[in-house]
Amino acid sequence: MRLFFSLFPVVWLAAGATAVFAQSTALPPPVTFTAAQDQQNMMDQLGIKALRPGPSGNEKAPNHANYDESKANPFPDIPDPLTLNDGRKVTTAKMWWDQRRPEIVEMEEKYVYGRVPKDVPKVTWTVTAVDHEMIGFTPVIAKDLIGEVDNSSYPAISVKIHMTLVTPANAKGPVPVLMMFGPAGFPSPNEPRGEELEHLNDSMKALLLQQDPSLKQVFADHPAWEPFKASPLFQPPQLNADGDPPNQWELVAAGWGFALFDPASVQADNGAGLTRGIIGLVNKGQPRKPEDWGALRAWAWGAGRGLDYLETDPAVDAKHVGIDGVSRYGKATLVTMAFDQRFYMALVGSSGKGGATLLRRNYGEAVESLTGGEYYWMAGNFMKYGASNAAFGSKTPGDIPVDSNELIALCAPRLTFISYGVPEKGDAHWLDHQGSFMATVDAGRVFVLLGAKGLESYGDYRTAKMPPVNDGPVGGELAWRQHDGGHTDAPNMKWFIQWADKYMGYTPPQ
Ligand code: GCU
Repeated sequence: MRLFFSLFPVVWLAAGATAVFAQSTALPPPVTFTAAQDQQNMMDQLGIKALRPGPSGNEKAPNHANYDESKANPFPDIPDPLTLNDGRKVTTAKMWWDQRRPEIVEMEEKYVYGRVPKDVPKVTWTVTAVDHEMIGFTPVIAKDLIGEVDNSSYPAISVKIHMTLVTPANAKGPVPVLMMFGPAGFPSPNEPRGEELEHLNDSMKALLLQQDPSLKQVFADHPAWEPFKASPLFQPPQLNADGDPPNQWELVAAGWGFALFDPASVQADNGAGLTRGIIGLVNKGQPRKPEDWGALRAWAWGAGRGLDYLETDPAVDAKHVGIDGVSRYGKATLVTMAFDQRFYMALVGSSGKGGATLLRRNYGEAVESLTGGEYYWMAGNFMKYGASNAAFGSKTPGDIPVDSNELIALCAPRLTFISYGVPEKGDAHWLDHQGSFMATVDAGRVFVLLGAKGLESYGDYRTAKMPPVNDGPVGGELAWRQHDGGHTDAPNMKWFIQWADKYMGYTPPQ
């Protein structure tokens, strides 16, 4: 008896200890920060006390961005894609592939866009539904897909990547596919018609009568009325403000397929979301470290997983998959193309700062915009270049070890089309067309080194003049075209398709 009583507390304690132990090994829920709290957390990690405020995008505001070309180049010498960090010149393709390209990749990851973690879990793709649709006059097969990320390491966050693949139904073989950043989903759902529609309407009427028998009289008075009506078999395309048919129409009419890829299903487009989505899943719900990936790199990673699926689909010519997006998705497009060399081509739409334009330029959107409200697109480290007061002093865009000419150069010699519209139609000065052209011209030297063609005929980037609007595409495998429409790539789509077809040697089956 004494023994029992003396053992009892020990047993009880041991049981209690097991419960405490189990609790401490369970992972805490994701951190819930506002964007401001998350940004502050990163500033604290980096020792940043104050950031220079970004300019206003409102051209009438007193603190509006600089639009004076004579003040646009405070750091006129941009980093040279063809000089190694130790100062040696890159003179052969081998030096580019073995030495310079890895150096640029490392700097872009470390200082600008962040690193993709080594242990990102596996993605398993499932076709959730297949629909037979019409896009314009072309019958297509549309597959809706979910790429589920293995979250066994942190079940509190689930990531389901959403992509919709659309290919012409009558294709004689695998087709080139343009993956487009934006909402996914069936583009033109196939509706029940004829007998199926009649059946639906009969059931619907029966259901309504069951709910309210007095409707019998209403139905008797309107015998021809049906609750569901068929939409017209053919609907003319919704032309955009610039008079262009939708990209999807142009692509399928040209014998291409397209994939709608939803970046938001990978990573939210805000700072509060950084402890969730794919970035949060890998970090087990904890805030980022300075070299971790930002949203742009996460979206680009997701596009790469989309391409993993496309490589398994026999309808797709996986050697000829492109990536496309506009604005922030134009930036994501360039990042995708730069880092994932399986993408054959890119249509980079109105990408601006963080995309094609030089970070060193002071014209329109500034580095301080990307370190301010847009900080979550970038690596945490990037915030240093907007710091006015920090443990390390202050830094400016001139301190960034790389620039966008080198990001574009990472795409070489693959097909890279830099696209813009005009400010008069809404492709704002904010985007810095001139700075994007300068970066494109300079990046062209790497294309030339690799046996391709860029914009070498435009001379030095410092003095290169943009070609007239609607000229081109000018260049070669690296091309430029400014269309006369707004903040969209639609007016350039037909030019992109023709240009890419030429390099691919693709003639769609008639
Ligand atoms: C803002 C932002 C740009 C971005 C654009 C968009 O203008 O400053 O960087 O490209 O939004 O994505 O719509």
